[in-house]
Amino acid sequence: MIDTSVDLGGLRMATPVATASGTFGYGFEYVGALDYSKLGAVTAKGIRLNPWPGNGMPRHCEVAGGLVNAIGLQGTGIEHFLDITVPHYMEQVRNAPPMIVNIWGGSVEEYAEVARRLTEAAATEEGRIIGAIECNVSCPNVKEGGHTFGQDPAVLNRLVKAVREKTTLPLIVKLAPNVPDIRPYVRACEDGGADALSMINTIPAMVIDIEKRRPVLANRTGGLSGRGIHPAAVKLVYDAHNATKLPILAMGGVYEAKDAIEFMLAGATAVAVGTATFTDPSVAEKVYDGMVDYCERHGFASVADLTAALV
Ligand SMILES: Cc1cc2nc3c(=O)[nH]c(=O)nc-3n(C[C@H](O)[C@H](O)[C@H](O)COP(=O)(O)O)c2cc1C
Repeated sequence: MIDTSVDLGGLRMATPVATASGTFGYGFEYVGALDYSKLGAVTAKGIRLNPWPGNGMPRHCEVAGGLVNAIGLQGTGIEHFLDITVPHYMEQVRNAPPMIVNIWGGSVEEYAEVARRLTEAAATEEGRIIGAIECNVSCPNVKEGGHTFGQDPAVLNRLVKAVREKTTLPLIVKLAPNVPDIRPYVRACEDGGADALSMINTIPAMVIDIEKRRPVLANRTGGLSGRGIHPAAVKLVYDAHNATKLPILAMGGVYEAKDAIEFMLAGATAVAVGTATFTDPSVAEKVYDGMVDYCERHGFASVADLTAALV
C-alpha cells in the first residue's frame, strides 16, 4: 500500500493531486465526473474582494498544444464566495478535499483583506474546508502603476508580508512564469513568509485570425496553458526547487501520470491538473492512479519520496 499523503507547507493532502485554479470551477461542478477521494485538494477559481466581470467574449481559443485564454479573472467576490459557494461545495461534495482558495486584487491591501476574511471564515464550522490561500500574483497592481505584482521582487515581497500578517492558513504564492530568472522571486516569497510556492501560471500569448486580420480574443492577448507549456514548467519547478526549501505545487500541462511524475522528480511536492480537465473531466483521477502504479513499479513506498528523486 503506497502512502499517498503529502504536506504542502502545512496543508495536509491525502494525495499529491490537486486541481488548478480556473479549470475546475468552484469545486462542486465536477461531482459525478470523478472520484474526489483521489484529489488532495481542489483549487477554486480566483476570488477578489468585489465581484468582477472578467473580459469580453471571445475569451478562449484552442491552439496546437493547448489553450489561450483571457477570462480576465471573472468572479463573484468574497462575500458570495463565503456565504454561498463554500457551503455549497461542502454540501455537494462527499468527503470533500480541502479547498485552496486562489485570491487576487488590485492592491496589496486588497489581497490582505481577502486573506483576513478567508482566515476568519476558515475558523468557523461553515468554512472549515478552506485549507490554504493561493495568491495569484500575475495580475496588475492597479493602485501602483499597473505593473504585475509578480514581476517585481520588492513588490512581491511586500505583498507576501502583508498577506502573511493577516493569515495563519498555509500561504501558497503562485509565481508568474514570464521572468528572466525565477530565483529572486522565490527568495522574495520565502523572506515574506510564504509556506509554499505554486507554478506555473499561463504564459502570455496571442492568436490572430489571419482572414480577419484581427486578434481572436476580445482582450487581444491572453495566456497559454496545456501540453505546450509543460517542459517550460518542469524547468521552472526544477530551478525554483534548487533555490528554496519551500514545497512546490506544480502545474502546467499535466495530462497523464508521466507529466505529474516529471514534476515530482524535478522537485515538486504536489501537482495540479488544469487545462486537461476540459477534454477529460476525470483526468486528475487517472493521474493519481498512474502515480500510484509508478510508485509500485519503481519501489517507492511513498509518493513523497518522488520529490527531487532525479538521478
Ligand atoms: C480558463 C483558465 C482560467 C484560469 N484562471 C485562473 C485563476 O483564476 N487564477 C489563477 O491563479 N490561475 C488561473 N489559471 C491558470 C491555471 O490555474 C494554471 O496555472 C495554468 O493553466 C497552467 O496549468 P495547465 O497547463 O494544466 O492548465 C487559469 C487557466 C485557465 C486555462
